Amino acid sequence: MNAPIGVIDSGVGGLTVVKEMLHYLPNEEIYYIGDTARCPYGPRTPQEVVKFTWQMADKLVEMGIKMLVIACNTATCVALESLQKHSKIPVIGVINAGAQAAIKATETHDIAVIATAGTVKSAAYENAIASLYSSSNITSLACPPLVPLVESGEYMGDFAFDLVKTSLQPLKKARFDTLILGCTHYPIIKDLIQKAVGEQVHIVSSATETAKQTLEILKFQGIERTAKESPHHKFFATGSLPIFKEIATNWLPLEQVDAARVTLK
Ligand code: DGL
Repeated sequence: MNAPIGVIDSGVGGLTVVKEMLHYLPNEEIYYIGDTARCPYGPRTPQEVVKFTWQMADKLVEMGIKMLVIACNTATCVALESLQKHSKIPVIGVINAGAQAAIKATETHDIAVIATAGTVKSAAYENAIASLYSSSNITSLACPPLVPLVESGEYMGDFAFDLVKTSLQPLKKARFDTLILGCTHYPIIKDLIQKAVGEQVHIVSSATETAKQTLEILKFQGIERTAKESPHHKFFATGSLPIFKEIATNWLPLEQVDAARVTLK
């Protein structure tokens, strides 16, 4: 089936999942929406996040996608269930994938999760990890400044590292051998996070597991793309395009990023 796969996020974060999808599903075509005009979702109410997530999903369904990946932890926490229940296409989120990645990596079962305020409040990671290994010791921390840092595109210098270090300060006293990047924006600043927590910590995210799960579902449903011509990926943002396009071009192994504005309602 040659229809594209839809991927959504509040902004550029879902591109970290797209990168792994390009690697594990090189023949698939991807349509991406980043709701950059209304990012961050982290501090918003669950009702707002559900509404915005449905708007992105509806827009991509209109464009003819065959499957949807909610590449946003905050949206997965509150909207995955209703989207799975009411959509005609397969829908997956990123929380279970992140929990699985952590369980594979940890040796001590002491796991820390950094995420948005919405994700931490939902306790979705605690529940997902407990369902895989019930006696894990989990520490969760919300890091509100990190998503705006990534969206600004200014995440290279000393200022960025200081902000990361300060945000992660509360983890200093926690015991963990594995840290889950529970927000899809964070892999973009993984090096800064690794430097702040130390080289001994395993850092995991949901991106690879999500890409593998997507592949499994396509195979299981018999809806893999069979077309011989190269896929033409399309990227849409609700806000201004220059920074979005710059981050996408730096992050993704694509010669060209075809990006356009989109309006959601
Ligand atoms: N990238 C998203 C996540 O994984 C959302 C970040 C936000 O908009 O606050 O949670």
